[in-house]
Amino acid sequence: MKIAVCGKGGVGKSTISALLVQALLDQGRKVLAIDADPSPHLARLLGLGRKTIVPIAEMKDLLQQRSERNGPFYNMNPRVDDLPDRFMEKQGSLRLMVLGAIPQGGAGCACAENAVLRNLLNRLLLSEGEDIVLDMEAGVEHLGRGTIASVDHILIVVQPYRGSIETAGKIETLARDLKIKSLHVVASNIQDSSDMDFIRESCGVEPVGQFPFSSEVRMAEREGRPVASVDKRLLDAAAELIQNLEPVL
Ligand SMILES: Nc1ncnc2c1ncn2[C@@H]1O[C@H](COP(=O)(O)OP(=O)(O)OP(=O)(O)O)[C@@H](O)[C@H]1O
Ligand SMILES: [Mg+2]
Repeated sequence: MKIAVCGKGGVGKSTISALLVQALLDQGRKVLAIDADPSPHLARLLGLGRKTIVPIAEMKDLLQQRSERNGPFYNMNPRVDDLPDRFMEKQGSLRLMVLGAIPQGGAGCACAENAVLRNLLNRLLLSEGEDIVLDMEAGVEHLGRGTIASVDHILIVVQPYRGSIETAGKIETLARDLKIKSLHVVASNIQDSSDMDFIRESCGVEPVGQFPFSSEVRMAEREGRPVASVDKRLLDAAAELIQNLEPVL
C-alpha cells in the first residue's frame, strides 16, 4: 500500500510517517520511506544514516543531465530506472530515499528537473512488492504539481486547532481534483476527548487514526533520537491506523 502523509506545517507528519514505517516493519513488511520535505529529517526520526543524505532534488547536475536539457527543450520522459538503487539508504527491510523539495516553476523554470523527479516518484509509486510511506512537504502547493496522483491513500494530519483543519480542507479539495478516492483525516497530538470531539465536528468525519500527545516523543526529537519506538501507545496507534486502511483496498 502506498500512503502519502500531508498536512499543515508542524502538525506531526514526519513523526506519524516514522511511526507508520516502524509499524509496517514490525508486521514483517518491506518499506520504502520517501522524504519529500524541503528540509528533510525523516532519516533522523527513523534512526537511519548518521551521515547527511543529500536530497536528489539538490543534485542539479544529475537532474540537468537526465533531463537532457538543451535550451528550452528537455526530455519529458527521462531515464530514472537506475536512480533508486544509487540514492537509497538501506537498513534491513527498510529503504529510505530523500527526495527533497521538488522545484517550483516560475522564475528560472525548473520544469526539466521537475520532469526527472516526477518520473522517479511515479516509477516508485507504481512499483509492486513494497509499502511506501511518503512524508510530504507542508501545505498544499505540492498537490498542484500532481506528483502524488498515484498513491493509494492520502492521510491528512490535523491537530485540534482551526488552522490545521482549514489547511486539511484545502488539501481535500485538491486531492479530489486529482481523483484520489481514499482520503483520511488523522488526529495528532491529542490530549483529551474534547480534542477528538473538536476534530470530528470540524472535519465532519471520523479520523482513521489518532495519536496521543507524547512527552517521550517530544523529548526524543529534541535529543535527536529516533522517535518510532519510544512510546508504545503511538506505535499501537500506527498499527491500528494501518489496520483501518486495509479494508479500503
Ligand atoms: N504525538 C506527539 N506528541 C508530542 N509531540 C509531538 C507529537 N507528534 C509530533 N510532535 C512534535 O511536534 C513537532 C512537529 O512534528 P513533526 O516534525 O512530525 O511535524 P511535521 O508536520 O512533519 O512538521 P513540518 O511541517 O515542519 O515538516 C516535533 O517537535 C515533534 O516531536
Ligand atoms: Mg516534516
